[in-house]
Amino acid sequence: MTVSTKKITVVGAGNVGETTAHIAALRNLGDIVLIDIVKGLAEGKALDIAQSGGVYPFDGRITGTTDWSQTAGSDIVIITSGVPRKPGMSRDDLLAINAKIVKSVTEQIVQYSPRAYIVVVCNPLDVMVYVAGKISGFAKNRVMGMAGALDSARFACFIAQELNVSIADVRGILLGGHGDDMVPLPRYTSVAGVPLPELMDAATIQRRVDRARSGGIEIVNLLGYSAYYAPAAGAVRMAEAILHDQKAILSCCAWCDKQYNIGGAYVGVPVILGSGGVEKIVELKLTAEEQQLLDASVGHVKALVKKVDEMI
Ligand code: LAC
Repeated sequence: MTVSTKKITVVGAGNVGETTAHIAALRNLGDIVLIDIVKGLAEGKALDIAQSGGVYPFDGRITGTTDWSQTAGSDIVIITSGVPRKPGMSRDDLLAINAKIVKSVTEQIVQYSPRAYIVVVCNPLDVMVYVAGKISGFAKNRVMGMAGALDSARFACFIAQELNVSIADVRGILLGGHGDDMVPLPRYTSVAGVPLPELMDAATIQRRVDRARSGGIEIVNLLGYSAYYAPAAGAVRMAEAILHDQKAILSCCAWCDKQYNIGGAYVGVPVILGSGGVEKIVELKLTAEEQQLLDASVGHVKALVKKVDEMI
């Protein structure tokens, strides 16, 4: 095992935060600080995760705290704090409350970890990334959101189940905001290098696309609260790509200007993630129909950004 001296702060010790901390520990990403405003919560969960190392060991130390000074000098801060969806709610319904939370968390990050990369996980995702970007004033390559990694994982899961193949062989790419109008790209999805349209008819692909789009609400309706295993895994995957300088191509929410004609917004695109954070937006040729779907999704994100701008 490698010994890492990297420091990862996970903000929020709810379902997503605790699972993120646990997976990050198991992946040996470094020392982990789990922070929450509720006294005892992060401390208790961190202690439990630390003790699990007695069964499945990891190298990093994990601590829980309510004290931001303990997060000082983090290399990456993953923001999971915020109110999750309940049945009947859209991600957009969380705008005002979560904007306030992300704003105050970001102020702490600026104070204690001015060189950190920020990975936002709370909803409405793309807009919360905007809030973290605006409040931090950090360079755009250092602020990003986890959604594409989750949404393409969902897409991959449904494709693997449909074809009865290993999920490890499925690679999907996805554009747009983390909402019902996200744009999975079947043409750029492959199974062991074979383009998806070679393996599935159009109607079956569309059903998988639709299920990926509503993958979040499907789980909210089953559980009564939001998903957390796959979102946490997506966040850790991004942190790992950055901390290990993997130059991994992952879909995530990143700042785009000229790319894809987005014109200045944080939205989901394929990027190269490495030690420079978002090192490059990967631009793919889109059909007119794909571009139209993306434009609609970007329009939705921009409308919410306009609303949030008046709140922060
Ligand atoms: C989901 C929530 C986390 O997609 O947005 O499950």
